[in-house]
Amino acid sequence: MNGRKQVDIAQAAKSILEQIPKGAFLTVKDGSRVNTMTIGWGTIGRMWNKPVFMVMVRYSRFTYEIIEKSSAFTVSVPLNGKFKEALAVCGSKSGRDVDKFKECGLKAVPGEKVDVPVIEGCDIHVECRILYKEPLAPEKLPKDIIDACYKDGDFHVLYFGEILGVYEEV
Ligand SMILES: Cc1cc2nc3c(=O)[nH]c(=O)nc-3n(C[C@H](O)[C@H](O)[C@H](O)COP(=O)(O)O)c2cc1C
Repeated sequence: MNGRKQVDIAQAAKSILEQIPKGAFLTVKDGSRVNTMTIGWGTIGRMWNKPVFMVMVRYSRFTYEIIEKSSAFTVSVPLNGKFKEALAVCGSKSGRDVDKFKECGLKAVPGEKVDVPVIEGCDIHVECRILYKEPLAPEKLPKDIIDACYKDGDFHVLYFGEILGVYEEV
């Protein structure tokens, strides 16, 4: 891995939020099982006097199985078109069926604050401790969102992670 430069979340947020719609890696770990998947939605903000990164994981994901048994996650953000192919594979294949690290040539390297790795070579890494999770309540969502995102009933669970570390690879 290259060097790491600690940065402020407010400083990194613009790049992260610009990249999120194109994809970032959400990595999770339970014991010896590590998995990563592409996420396209998420928020960065402040809750309970702490910086927080919220990610959304559908029940059908292998990632869901793993994050449910964990207390942490990491988000690794590649910028400038990097890892385009890997984002496509990690956003379409399941860790239940393939080892995405092997298939995409991704290397998981240890995080600093949490026992979940980050994806080597990405530009920005965020390490989070889960503070709160909330399954979406369908009756609380407007119909247009249900129609647009949940016709198949595969709802998201929201995971709110306290941001414990943010660093850039330099
Ligand atoms: C650009 C992009 C963004 C995505 N964002 C999310 C997301 O925020 N939440 C989610 O549950 N799935 C999202 N997906 C779908 C998962 O990445 C995909 O279903 C993946 O294969 C799940 O892998 P897993 O079964 O190993 O967890 C996204 C896919 C792409 C291509």
